[in-house]
Amino acid sequence: MHIDKLERFWMLAIAVVIGSLSAVLLVTAFLFEVRLPTPYEQFDPAEIEETEFAEPGVRHMGGNKYHVHVLAQTWFFTPDEIRIPRGAEVTFFVTSKDVTHGFFIEEHNVNLMLLPGHVARITTHFQKPGTYKILCHEYCGSGHHTMVADLIVEAPSDSDSDEEK
Ligand code: CUA
Repeated sequence: MHIDKLERFWMLAIAVVIGSLSAVLLVTAFLFEVRLPTPYEQFDPAEIEETEFAEPGVRHMGGNKYHVHVLAQTWFFTPDEIRIPRGAEVTFFVTSKDVTHGFFIEEHNVNLMLLPGHVARITTHFQKPGTYKILCHEYCGSGHHTMVADLIVEAPSDSDSDEEK
């Protein structure tokens, strides 16, 4: 079968593009733990008091595993300060009470869109102690830019001190 030289070139070029994009996908998924946020469950936002979001916060699930429920609303997150020990594997369950908000943790692979009543779930690890901003990155009205919370990753030694921020 005769394949024109030019055609062979473009077949090769396309194979290179597809090959490198697939490699990027595999490297980011397995090396950098980039995950698609999972839609976890759905409920009527008016019935939020009957869900786990009535008492948002950090729950220790044993070992180094933590579950964190966060409720977003105009224009704040509850809780607005989350403390996690270094090395923790944290699964976030995040939803919105009113309009569409965002949930982005700086320097980490957490970037969720929050739709009212839809629970977004994502699991990540926190290895480096420090204070990281959680930002709403979906425009949600006049107070959007004030919608910030702190995620504090504590080194083992200062987790038992009462040091206040
Ligand atoms: Cu909430 Cu922007």
